[in-house]
Amino acid sequence: MSSTQRTQVAIIGAGPSGLLLGQLLYKAGVDAIIVEQRSAEYVLGRIRAGVLEQVTVDLLDQAGVSARLHREGLPHDGIELCFGAKRHRIDLHKLTGGKRVTVYGQTEVTHDLMDARKAEGLPIVYEAAKVSVHDFDTPKPRVRYEKDGATHEIECDFIAGCDGYHGVTRASVPAGALKTYERVYPFGWLGVLSRTPPVSDELIYSNHERGFALCSMRSHSLSRYYVQCSLDDHAERWSDEAFWGELRRRLDPAAAESLITGPSIEKSIAPLRSFVAEPMRFGHLFLAGDAAHIVPPTGAKGLNLAAADVGFLSRAFTEFYKDRSNAGIDHYSERCLRRIWKAERFSWWMTSLLHKFPDTGEFGQRIQRAELDYLVNSTAAMTSLAENYVGLPLEV
Ligand code: APR
Ligand code: PHB
Repeated sequence: MSSTQRTQVAIIGAGPSGLLLGQLLYKAGVDAIIVEQRSAEYVLGRIRAGVLEQVTVDLLDQAGVSARLHREGLPHDGIELCFGAKRHRIDLHKLTGGKRVTVYGQTEVTHDLMDARKAEGLPIVYEAAKVSVHDFDTPKPRVRYEKDGATHEIECDFIAGCDGYHGVTRASVPAGALKTYERVYPFGWLGVLSRTPPVSDELIYSNHERGFALCSMRSHSLSRYYVQCSLDDHAERWSDEAFWGELRRRLDPAAAESLITGPSIEKSIAPLRSFVAEPMRFGHLFLAGDAAHIVPPTGAKGLNLAAADVGFLSRAFTEFYKDRSNAGIDHYSERCLRRIWKAERFSWWMTSLLHKFPDTGEFGQRIQRAELDYLVNSTAAMTSLAENYVGLPLEV
């Protein structure tokens, strides 16, 4: 054993969940060490959704990492649904009594969190190998990892499992203590990032007989587009021309015409999954973010759910240290899961409404079309979509 460190909270994973938790705890005066198996460059290389709920922006404010977000983030007051060769606007702002979302890439959020941590001189152990968690059923849990050929141990009060879907923390919970719920969708999203102006000021979600398409953006000069594809497809098989052609076919004529294309900067296929692990606490181990749940990206809820989890968790730990109260810790799992299941429902619903399923058939297509037509003509239905899209209140 080459070293033993001591901290209050050991955070496993330096994705958005782990980094935001670390920053919120730092602001609250709670000590933490973050252990990440990859390099900082690798973490920043992952491209993910970029729609932030107000709740997420508020947490980034609280963490003191929102200056660039307020400068460069794009406030969006609406989204567009495209079907039957027409676009229909959902006025999020009006339907929710003044709420909106902010378009700002997850990569940028991660960047800002990394910069803040570096500026404060707070520790992140990158490229930690063989990370393992121990004794979390006791008040003295430990984390072990290898780095540069030596073994290191962290003694702590709590372990936060922020290590994503494939992480070690959920996998270390004894079988039988965990119940998981899962749905895998029979298609993927082929995504392209391009240095071109977005086709529209607002996001376009399109239901088309050839499959779903989404027009999103990162800035006024950087666009992110997706088309539904088959799971056995490969990104390398898609030339840029083929991608732009397929996207155009799935949009209304006006959008197809005004779409500005260019070389892709990134092209990849992502599968779609719904997943929840219950509970989210095992003694002194707490799961947060993708370690505990996955949503398909259709509702853009992944990062927002992760932020809400670590918001609750940082509050729970802070109450424990400052107020000597276990209340937040004891309610953490239940409090998160109530909101998570509502976001799971919404993401599943958006996915079901907008995609072409292998078994959709003609009947299914007419039902989808009827639901979309109902949706854009019913204030009640649009309000339900809008209040979920901008994000439910923290306590639901
Ligand atoms: N030890 C240490 N770190 C690990 C381990 C391990 N055994 N396994 C995984 N990690 C790291 C990963 O390398 C990654 O950097 O944990 C981090 C988890 O980050 P994410 O997968 O981004 O998960 P999270 O921080 O919860 O962010 C959730 O990501 O997938 C999106 O839609 C999702 O936007 C949401 C966000
Ligand atoms: C994205 O910009 O990558 C994005 C936006 C909205 C979604 C999913 C992805 O629903």
